Parts: sequence; C-alpha cells; structure tokens
Amino acid sequence: MNDQRICAVINIGILATPKGLKAKAGTQQGEILSLKNAYLLIEDGFIKELGTGTPDLTGIKADQILDAGGRLVTPGLVDAHTHLVFGGWRAHELQQKLAGVPYLDILAAGGGILNTVGQTRKATENELFNKAAKALDGMIALGTTTVEAKSGYGLDLENELKQLRVAKQLDERHLVDVVSTLMVAHAVPSEYKHNRNAFLDLILNTIIPAVAQENLAAFCDVFCETGVFDVAESKAILLCAQAHGMRSKIHADEIDAIGGSELAGELKAISAEHLIALQDSGIASLKTGGTIACLLPATSFYLGKPYARAQNLIAAGVPVAIASDFNPGSCPSYSLQFCMNLAAYNYRMSSEQVLTSVTLNAAAAIDKAKIIGSLEAGKLADLVIWDAETLDFLFYRFGSNLVKSVVKRGILV
Ligand code: NIG
Ligand code: FE
Repeated sequence: MNDQRICAVINIGILATPKGLKAKAGTQQGEILSLKNAYLLIEDGFIKELGTGTPDLTGIKADQILDAGGRLVTPGLVDAHTHLVFGGWRAHELQQKLAGVPYLDILAAGGGILNTVGQTRKATENELFNKAAKALDGMIALGTTTVEAKSGYGLDLENELKQLRVAKQLDERHLVDVVSTLMVAHAVPSEYKHNRNAFLDLILNTIIPAVAQENLAAFCDVFCETGVFDVAESKAILLCAQAHGMRSKIHADEIDAIGGSELAGELKAISAEHLIALQDSGIASLKTGGTIACLLPATSFYLGKPYARAQNLIAAGVPVAIASDFNPGSCPSYSLQFCMNLAAYNYRMSSEQVLTSVTLNAAAAIDKAKIIGSLEAGKLADLVIWDAETLDFLFYRFGSNLVKSVVKRGILV
C-alpha cells in the first residue's frame, strides 16, 4: 500500500450510489443515483462534494487527483457478515461434503466449527492477526472497505477475548474498518457436550459481561439452529447481550426453520442472517421488527443449498443486505464480487438492488449507514473505481476481479 492521499476523483464515467442514512426497502432498494461525467472532492478522508463536469481543482496537487478514466465508481463494498478471525482451514471436509455428508452431521461428530475451535485455541494472537490481516488485504483488493467480524471459534472466555482483541487490533492497524460481533453461541464446545446448561451459564454470567466490560463487540449473534442453540436459549443469550449494550444479530433459518427469523423480529434484531429456509411467518416478523435480511449467497453455493427468497423479502418491504459469510466451513471465500454475481443470477435481483445490498443496506446492518455505504457529502471517502463502464457490466462478467482502484478514507490503496 502506498498511502497516497486523494483529494479529487475526476473523469468518472458513471458514479452509481444509493443515497441516504438508512437501509432501503421495497422499490427503494433499486433506486440509486447514477451521475454521468461526475467528480468527487475529498477532504480529510471524507467526501466534501460530488457533482458533474469539471470541478474547481485550485489548491489540489497533481498527485492528489485521481483520474477515473471514464470508468464506473461505486461506494466501497461493505461485508456485513464474516467469521474473519480463525485458525487453520478445513479443506479436509471438502470430500465429505461432496460425498453428501450434511454440514450439521459433521458438526455433531465433533468436526466442523469444533475443528476450527481447536485450531483457533491453539493459535497465538499474533498468528491470528497475521492470517486475518492477509484476508483483509485480499478483501480490499476485491473492493471491500469495511468488514464485520464475528467471534465464535474460541467458545471459552480466554479464546473469545483473544479473537475479539485480534479483530480490534485489525480495526486499529489495517486500513479496512472492522466491526466486531460476539458469537460465543456458535456451537457447544466438546468440554460442555454433556453439560450445556453450564456453558449457557458461562456465556450469560461470564463471557457477555467480560466482552461488554472491555467494549469488544457492538453486536451479539447466535447460531439458532437444529442441534446447536434453540429459540429459548438464543433469546436468553441475546437479551442478556442487549442488557450489556450489544444489539442482536441471528444466524436464522440457515439449514432448518426453527423460529430464528421470528425471534429476530421479536427482539428487533438489527439483522437476521442466512434465511435459506425462511418461512412466510419469518418474513412477516422481520418486517415488523425492522430487521434487515442479510443474505449469504456464496454459502448457498458452497453448501449446495437453495438460494434465499430475496424477491419475497423485497416485496414484503424487508431491506436486503448481501454479505460473504467468509469462514473456513460453509464459505471459504471473501469475494463480495462473487456474491454480487450469485445474487443477480440466483436471487434475480437487479444490478441496482444488489448494489444497495452490498453498500448502504450492508452498512445499515452493522449500524454504520450514517458514515459509509453511499457516496454523499459527509460520508467517508470509501470508493471503488471499476474496470467497467456500466453497472450491469459488474454483474455480466464473473470470475475475475474487476477492481481498478480502491480508495479507503481518502487513501489510494
Ligand atoms: O455462517 N453457521 C454457522 N456459522 C458459519 C459457519 C461456520 C463454520 O462452519 O466454521 C456460517 O455458515
Ligand atoms: Fe455466518
């Protein structure tokens, strides 16, 4: 990275961005601003002005001006759901998966998430930092400028804190902004296999208060799933975290619809994630609760599962965000560009709807829509210049990185 501070982006062929400070739902999800022959002026890392034609560049040095060469410019992509910090990989599960062994069976047999827990517990903070920083380097090269990172591979006090401290350090030391979520309710660790109530006690009475005390997470997430955490357990955990200042997120209806999305609406969760097996009652609840549906198409792709009902959610007025779910088990990819392709082809969303889902709505899903997610005066200068002249081109091409340049907080990456 060369740390070049940018004060103007000129000669933008099309500047495409959603607008506003909140998530967009229904028809508004597909309504974006599309400015031809545009420019952006940047001051101290924030957008000062945007407009069309040639701006007044008086006082701006030549090396602070970025010429977009007639290309498409969008906001930086926001990845609102990742499990960024983990030890090792799980390539050894691929053949099991291809042979048809279900994801939850691998977990029930002590593999899956629990395998990664073992590898994460063994790793030092330094090792975890370096591995996740490398992933962030890869993400920003693909256009992602802000990332949410969940814990959940520690499953005890020491190792959950370790993961969250790494995420905090990444936020401080890497150009990509990192927002943390406590997800200690990701699986029941093997030492509590025969005593899950003691694990719940540990979460409620020790881990949530400790994480709140160190201010290590803005959100709390729970894997509400068959054989993992049921609705009553999920509710108790999320209410406890709310009382400690953490807003709720839920891994809901990823494999089975056991009531996770209904609970998300009831608790006014900021977002409900996955929603592959979502029922009509879940859609109604999300709408009532003002909850954002965070869909993860690359997980459907990798697990060979159906694609979530994006069109029904949009028609019902639920804002849709799209994220990668980057993790070693159900989605070993952090490419939001790939997710965008999958969303267009499988959710049948328009280019404009998908753009909103990976920018403004994703920002809203991590409570950052007031400062990122769109290109507007007053927001951070996080943007991507694409090797594309139209928005549709991003969705038409797949499998290669179409990023030409990324600007993060006004710095050319
Ligand atoms: O979102 N489902 C729970 N968590 C992740 C997978 C984690 C893993 O398999 O390591 C998910 O799919
Ligand atoms: Fe996930």
